Amino acid sequence: MRKPLVAGNWKMFMTVAEARHLVADLVPRLQTVEGVQIVLCPPFTDLLAVAALLEGTNIGLGAQNMHWEPNGAYTGEISPLMLAELAKYVILGHSERRTYFHETDETVNRKVKAALEYGLIPIVCVGESLDENESNRTAEVVSRQMLKGLEGVDLSGGKEIVIAYEPVWAIGTGRAATPEGANQVLADVIRPALAELFGQEMSQVVRVLYGGSVKGDNAAQFFTMPDIDGALVGGASLKAEDFTRIAQAAASHS
Ligand code: PGA
Repeated sequence: MRKPLVAGNWKMFMTVAEARHLVADLVPRLQTVEGVQIVLCPPFTDLLAVAALLEGTNIGLGAQNMHWEPNGAYTGEISPLMLAELAKYVILGHSERRTYFHETDETVNRKVKAALEYGLIPIVCVGESLDENESNRTAEVVSRQMLKGLEGVDLSGGKEIVIAYEPVWAIGTGRAATPEGANQVLADVIRPALAELFGQEMSQVVRVLYGGSVKGDNAAQFFTMPDIDGALVGGASLKAEDFTRIAQAAASHS
């Protein structure tokens, strides 16, 4: 069985002081939630402070991006080698990175391979834009992102990846996908792509999350869906009460 995973993508929010405050509020609430893997993905500048506060808890830590090289003359970048000392997860290929920072399936692919090489678990984001959705190109786009983004990736030796299906039109809009609609993309596009890449058995092992306007009051309906193994949460992950409700909803379906 796939253990549910709820990850908070803080995006470019939270100073160190704000992060300490939020995590101090979150930890006691989340400590009682069992049967679900919880991961916080703050900005790089918060990682050290948040790591200290999460020590001894069951809450995991992740970053939101990284370069694919272990080191080098890449001013402003952070490497998998650096992250591996601090975090276990890394979000890769988020639509905001693809849209504003020109990330492509090729760069996502390099990053996924590098993350795995350094022992990180990539949370790979895929999802179609509004335009692509309205022109019935969801399957084509998501399938391409999966097959190109994960081309040549090797999951042998217990390596792990997580996929997050995040339709771009649902991110930060308050307009979530329907649970049935999201599940259909997972069942018809994402798991078949996983089977093509890693084999049938692995396609049933890899966790696939839904992301896009998941809140405390709509989360439970996603977790009743057979192919949805958790959520990647943006806005609601900055509110202790809302994020806890989402984690509790996932726990009650584990
Ligand atoms: P949202 O963002 O929950 O604020 O819609 C999700 C994401 O971008 O991961």
